Amino acid sequence: MADSRITLHPDFRKGTLDRRLFGSFVEHLGRAVYTGVYEPEHPTADQHGFRKDVAELTHELGVSMVRYPGGNFVSNYVWEDAVGPVEQRKPFLDLAWRTVEPNLVGTDEFLQWAEREGIEPMMAVNLGTRGVAAAAALVEYCNGEAGTRWADLRIANGRTEPYGVKLWCLGNEMDGPWQIGHKDAHEYGKLAAEAGKAMKLVDPSISLVVCGSSSMEIPTFGEWERIVLSYTYDLVDHISMHAYYQELDGDRASFLASGTSMDRFIDRVVASADAVGAERRSDKKITISFDEWNVWYLSRFPGEQNLPIQRDAPRIIEDVYSGLDAVVVGDLLLTLLNHADRVPVACLAQLVNVIAPIMTAPGGEAWRQPTFYPFATTARLARGTALDVRVSSPSYSTKKHGEAPVVTAAATVDDDGALALFVTNRSVEAVEVDLAHVGASLSITEGWRMLADHEPAVEGPEHAAKVAQACWSAVDVASAVAAGEGGSTTLRLEPESWTALSGTLKRA
Ligand code: AHR
Repeated sequence: MADSRITLHPDFRKGTLDRRLFGSFVEHLGRAVYTGVYEPEHPTADQHGFRKDVAELTHELGVSMVRYPGGNFVSNYVWEDAVGPVEQRKPFLDLAWRTVEPNLVGTDEFLQWAEREGIEPMMAVNLGTRGVAAAAALVEYCNGEAGTRWADLRIANGRTEPYGVKLWCLGNEMDGPWQIGHKDAHEYGKLAAEAGKAMKLVDPSISLVVCGSSSMEIPTFGEWERIVLSYTYDLVDHISMHAYYQELDGDRASFLASGTSMDRFIDRVVASADAVGAERRSDKKITISFDEWNVWYLSRFPGEQNLPIQRDAPRIIEDVYSGLDAVVVGDLLLTLLNHADRVPVACLAQLVNVIAPIMTAPGGEAWRQPTFYPFATTARLARGTALDVRVSSPSYSTKKHGEAPVVTAAATVDDDGALALFVTNRSVEAVEVDLAHVGASLSITEGWRMLADHEPAVEGPEHAAKVAQACWSAVDVASAVAAGEGGSTTLRLEPESWTALSGTLKRA
């Protein structure tokens, strides 16, 4: 008998999948921009100085949208200093990462890169050291028609057509004491409401993301959402969530259950937002922009206050990932899919070099970290509608998250019945899963699998390739999937693994 059961039916629907769920993030931090996306001296650089090898991997990763320019960086950013003739731009001291920012890449360079690569931009405004005027001016610079000050500056800088940036973050992690210009919930709520109002007066078509909590563990969580939304509920479309996960003190079981923590975090933010809506007797639903999520070994980061002041794209938080990290990333992705009804936007933080699926050597090659594979595979296979998948699984005890299910799953189906099924086995044992599909026909044709490893991750493309060879492979469907009687199929899952399967699911 199978250990767990996953019930699938094309009529059990959670919500339409928004492609912005496969967003990522490029911050002026470490080598994300310089020697990351941008390196004019690199052999693959295009005429604008952007690395083609990185752009190609970004496409292979399936990234739909990129958030810019921060992150903590945005909270002390003077965007006007990074537009216009490059030779006239002055370097500035970014206090968020204690780095001299050369301002060679600014709003125009980023937005034109995104446009050339067919990626939607998501911009953030500085509500740390600046406010309403600078935020509204930036929207005008990006989206305004000719004939007003900031739109005309853009035109004078060589860009006639407005960029039409749709999605805007009202600052970044303003609840965090580390943030430059940190505010309490009332101060931030009022400022976000005023900045957002002005930004929408410049361009009513934009959507706004108000800052939620920077983690579920921060003491102000919950109260922050309630207060901030009490000022901004009618104005904004989304509230942000940020969460990073790591294996601490060898507690592998808790780390593998990170998706359970993400799941609870989302449920709690939805509850907080809906409580504010209910009190206002509002029919509007605030949705979530999970605009920073990933595995990040924060315990290895000395803290920005302990960084020396550096220049020339220093190496900061260049985490090296293992097969285990990749299994967790796959599981976090399926958690996001399971909330497709309330989470239309998410950004894997970040895209390149900084806690990233893509790494580069300055002047040299670009390569995939193990976390690249589950993201690219989910972005490629998931389409159409996220299904309301019912999972019945034994649970296991974790130190950090209490009871957590051993097996987790998510699925999508498109109008033609093309199915994508994502399943994690968090147990150290192989498990058998009964795929129940009463009233529907199911066929599985292909699959890919990531196995967790026990090796310490080592920096460099050779090691990343070795991990991929050992942990990432096609599923032998004939031996992993067995068709049974009466609307059920058995699936065998490897220990500590993440599996993606594609096939069809059609009403019988
Ligand atoms: O992604 C790295 C940093 O993590 C971002 O700058 C900040 O928003 C978060 O704390």
